[in-house]
Amino acid sequence: DWTMRAFREEEIAKIRQQVGKGKVICGLSGGVDSAVAAVLIHEAIGDQLTCVFVDHGLMRLNEAEQVVDLFRHHYNIPLVHVDASKQFLGELEGVTDPEAKRKTIGRLFIEVFEQEAKKIGGADFLAQGTLYPDVIESVSFTGGPSVTIKSHHNVGGLPERMNMKLVEPLRELFKDEVRKLGRELGLPEIFVGRHPFPGPGLAIRCPGDITRDKLDILRKADAVYIDQIRKHGLYDEIWQAFAVLLPVKTVGVMGDGRTYDYVVGLRAVTSTDGMTADFYQFDMKFLGETATRIINEVKGVNRVVYDVTSKPPGTIEWE
Ligand code: XMP
Repeated sequence: DWTMRAFREEEIAKIRQQVGKGKVICGLSGGVDSAVAAVLIHEAIGDQLTCVFVDHGLMRLNEAEQVVDLFRHHYNIPLVHVDASKQFLGELEGVTDPEAKRKTIGRLFIEVFEQEAKKIGGADFLAQGTLYPDVIESVSFTGGPSVTIKSHHNVGGLPERMNMKLVEPLRELFKDEVRKLGRELGLPEIFVGRHPFPGPGLAIRCPGDITRDKLDILRKADAVYIDQIRKHGLYDEIWQAFAVLLPVKTVGVMGDGRTYDYVVGLRAVTSTDGMTADFYQFDMKFLGETATRIINEVKGVNRVVYDVTSKPPGTIEWE
């Protein structure tokens, strides 16, 4: 794609000019955006870049391993892997408000980056995979009044005390363009085609209180759901799909016993940029089969529901 080839060259020149001989620290989230930003910046400035993958304990099943593998083995880009799950989950204990979750997570991310920057003798820049829709959505909502719907933690600048400037080479791009750029940079298709994943991770897919037990259940249910979608060849038709663990237990029956377990909500949408979205019209057979698999394979779940809300009036994530 010639436009992306040109974009790549232009951005590399811009990054070199902005950064000079400075040091850059880049946070990887496991998603496409930060991975593309990191690979692009690495092409521009090589070992002036340090990539940091902060495992906040809110990743999906096996996600941390996949990211580490991609960077260390596929690209040979040095990567610092920080297991900060104790710190994140500890501070999130008892936090139930969606925006409070985002703020807590955003603050901790910054603290971890500061620690890591110190370890490499200071960094001058913080790189992020911020996209154009992130920039708009955190300011206002399309067609609506200028109110914040969700404070995506990776936008809105940095606290003054951080003393780092931002490098955001994807700020003018939409998701489909980032994917094209990722292909241009040689990222494996399985990574480029991944559904978006929010920075706060599973914290915002666990409405209410977050506990390790709930996260484990959610991770397993989500993995079964995504496996079903892949097996049925639907993954690339869907813009984003995930499971949500509801903070509700309901009564069920299994064998000859009563169960009292959690409800899992399934979400799948089509969209072009995440600003508006339609719920995906699975056939009932797929949904029934998926519900059966989740209930059989995931201990702690006895009921599955499907979300048929589009955006607006719903948002994609439940929090
Ligand atoms: P919503 O739920 O606002 O989601 O309709 C639109 C897109 O943004 C993602 N999202 C987030 N991404 N930090 C992020 O990095 C956040 O706090 C956040 N909240 C939502 C969501 O997954 C969807 O792709």
